[in-house]
Amino acid sequence: MAITEEFKQELKARTDIADVISSYVQLKKSGRNLVGLCPFHNERSPSFSVSRENGFFYCFGCGAGGDAITFIRKIENLDYVDAVRLLAQRAGMTVPENNVNDGMGKLKGRICEANREAARFYHRQLYSPAGKQALDYLRGRGLTEKTIIHFGLGYSPRDRFELTNHLRSKGFSKDEIIQANLANQSKKGNPFDRFSDRVMFPIIDLRGNVIGFGGRIMSDIKPKYLNTSDTPVFNKSRNLFALQFAKNKAKGQLILVEGYMDVIALHQAGFENAVATLGTSLTQEQAMIIKRYCDEVVICYDADEAGQKATQRAIGILRPTGINIRILTVPSGKDPDEFIKSYGDQGSARFRMLLEKSGNDTEYRLSKLRNSYNTDIPEQRVAFLTKAAALVSELENPVEQDVYISKLSHELDVEKEALKRLVNKNNRRSYRESIKDEQFRAQAQMSGINDRMNRDKQFNLKAANAEEAIISLMMNNPDIAQQISKELPPDKFVTGFNRNVYGVLLKRLSAGDDISISDISGEFSEEEMSSITRMMLSHPRDPDPSLAAKEYTEILIEQSERLTPEQAETADYDTIMEELRKLREKKK
Ligand code: CTP
Ligand code: MN
Repeated sequence: MAITEEFKQELKARTDIADVISSYVQLKKSGRNLVGLCPFHNERSPSFSVSRENGFFYCFGCGAGGDAITFIRKIENLDYVDAVRLLAQRAGMTVPENNVNDGMGKLKGRICEANREAARFYHRQLYSPAGKQALDYLRGRGLTEKTIIHFGLGYSPRDRFELTNHLRSKGFSKDEIIQANLANQSKKGNPFDRFSDRVMFPIIDLRGNVIGFGGRIMSDIKPKYLNTSDTPVFNKSRNLFALQFAKNKAKGQLILVEGYMDVIALHQAGFENAVATLGTSLTQEQAMIIKRYCDEVVICYDADEAGQKATQRAIGILRPTGINIRILTVPSGKDPDEFIKSYGDQGSARFRMLLEKSGNDTEYRLSKLRNSYNTDIPEQRVAFLTKAAALVSELENPVEQDVYISKLSHELDVEKEALKRLVNKNNRRSYRESIKDEQFRAQAQMSGINDRMNRDKQFNLKAANAEEAIISLMMNNPDIAQQISKELPPDKFVTGFNRNVYGVLLKRLSAGDDISISDISGEFSEEEMSSITRMMLSHPRDPDPSLAAKEYTEILIEQSERLTPEQAETADYDTIMEELRKLREKKK
């Protein structure tokens, strides 16, 4: 492991998880724990809990959990080593650099270097004879030299070996180039460039790393855009195009558009607070990032039907974050880039006018809704008002609710009190619905249906629960962990994920390393840490850990001797007879 155990111990001692999390989430005391609104999903009532004594956090709403390092990884979108660096800095410690050579961290570093070299290469190509058509294309779309350089735009040559050969000559291995998704692998195992004959848009994260690319074809060939697939450094749902520029210019507001070209055209026109998603629709993670950098977002999607649907979706995702939402509709079916370009010198001023006129999302949704009813007909008027009341009841701010109730009652000539009752009815119902949701989630989790980390669990519930109890016991009671590890070989674990976790605990124990939640987070991904934290919570400290360990070990040994449903299907006659015999023995 990259970071020494001594270093981790000292960091653990100097880090108070509640302090760390308090810089991001407002926490309130509740019993022995602290609670607040979860920063990883949208919620109105707090289900995010922090246990100072156990050193972990857990959200009962979305299931995110782990130690302080996991929290920083998730919220800052950092890898393990960088999260440790950040926490160390906070604690006044420095990570000795020669300590940092862990496998994943190193691969990520190499991928970023390969990407940076690729971006330089593509950019140079743009100014070579082979790139003339691409350069003309960009100029033809109205981009200035300054903009092309600012965004580091480039051209990927037609010949599918040029980038790969170039990177090889710079010392990057075949594997690194493929892992970076800069090349694909042929049937014979040879790498060839992923991007060919496209205008290239480098995607840069907040730390200035080139993490991926979008590439646009210059003809009608499909797909129009090709993007880097997810790699160890690139996750489409956690990054936003141009956020590295926009975050410094946001002044409280970001403009969210659909395309790379829209972002670039807006930045060139002076709207440097524009960002875009990376070829997918807006995710909750992106919504939380947006919320971190501004308190108002202007959604400015294409005016076509797909764009309007995407707008509705984005509102649904952004609304619960409490951020102020405005909708800018570009007239006559244009996208922002086309709109600005169509007005030439006036483009910037024209867009500013649209921006100033853009309404908030409640108005937008109400007017959309109203368009689909003929409110002169009484039945339709009632239908519209019922839907409208439901919409207004989603607003959290009662004053805001009141404003729209007044407005609607005025416009549709209905009594304000009646409308208010309708809204209140919805308020109560949605509260009940949200409770039902949470109960359902809790049940599903207990029964393993939703356990994405451990797919085997739903088929082996009893074994999985015993395994989880044993893992929690060991982590909570290091003194008996050695004993358990001697009596219970890992192959008695029935479910894959729990077997892995147990394996890691055994490995650490035999090396003399600690196994509390904050000791093991370097060995697992964020999602895995969430699962382990959930296990610890469903199996709180036991008054007699030795006895509990014995009982769970017995259950597990018994369970592991049973056939799994898949095995039963393919087992031969003798095995099945043997199994039945064992079962009969037990019944006696
Ligand atoms: N996109 C994608 N794959 C495609 C098409 C689109 O990933 N096959 C993503 C790209 O991020 C693109 C965005 O969706 O920027 C919006 O697509 P679209 O509106 O079709 O393109 P524009 O951005 O308007 O591109 P252009 O102006 O170059 O046609
Ligand atoms: Mn466009």
